[in-house]
Amino acid sequence: MRESVVEQTAPHIGLHQLRFQYGDGTLALQGISLTVNAGESVALVGPNGSGKSTLLMHLVGLLQGQGEIVVAGLPVVKTHLPEIRRRVGLVFQHPDDQLFLLRLYDDVAFGPRNQGLAPDDVHARVTEALARVRLDGYVDRVAHHLSTGEKKRAALATVLAMQPEILLLDEPSSNLDPRSRRDLQRILAELPVTKIIATHDMEFALALCNRAVILDAGQVVADGPCRALFADADLMERHGLEVPASLCAPACC
Ligand SMILES: Nc1ncnc2c1ncn2[C@@H]1O[C@H](COP(=O)(O)OP(=O)(O)O)[C@@H](O)[C@H]1O
Ligand SMILES: [Mg+2]
Repeated sequence: MRESVVEQTAPHIGLHQLRFQYGDGTLALQGISLTVNAGESVALVGPNGSGKSTLLMHLVGLLQGQGEIVVAGLPVVKTHLPEIRRRVGLVFQHPDDQLFLLRLYDDVAFGPRNQGLAPDDVHARVTEALARVRLDGYVDRVAHHLSTGEKKRAALATVLAMQPEILLLDEPSSNLDPRSRRDLQRILAELPVTKIIATHDMEFALALCNRAVILDAGQVVADGPCRALFADADLMERHGLEVPASLCAPACC
């Protein structure tokens, strides 16, 4: 009993003093410390270039900076990367970076096959993942012929097929029309996993997350409840963001 309580409340993601400099000298992360508990949905918000994508890539070991990172109980070091990438799914901002095979079935099956699952299990994973993102029946479709909304959901399916316990989403709502954005929002709300959603779509963040971490120039400048942070007009303006319309007083928008 005690153990299961500990498990549910143990930090699922921990960063300590993470620093990262790109090859051209750009200091993208300047000492980020952060803890995310199991089951939390956290919005990672900040203006363009604040370091959101760079941070997400560190959580699955696609980039390696200085400092400590522990994800799903494992330090993010080379020897743990296969296990971490099985348990932590990163959905890239651009679906074309995630969909590269001809049939959608093969794109979604790619991870489970790589993991060595039997064909029946792979099939079950693909069917379930496509159903979750409302793309049942799309198995024979060619990914690059899909609409942007469908592509975004297909990219999410490739990650869900791995049954990750942590989901990292980079600008999931970018380039979506209102209906596709709403559909994606509903799909994400139904997923009972720990989530970090990098976005500057404040309404989307507000709808899906209770907590926000604001990044600016590679530093955490605020961490707290979405509603309180996003309603703070000075804070939003200082960091290149704006109060979402749903939190505006009638006179301010
Ligand atoms: N491949 C790269 N080479 C050099 N600098 C980069 C590269 N990718 C991103 N940057 C820089 O790192 C900083 C953080 O970028 P990024 O993580 O993409 O921010 P965000 O996702 O918040 O828009 C920015 O200054 C950006 O210009
Ligand atoms: Mg980005």
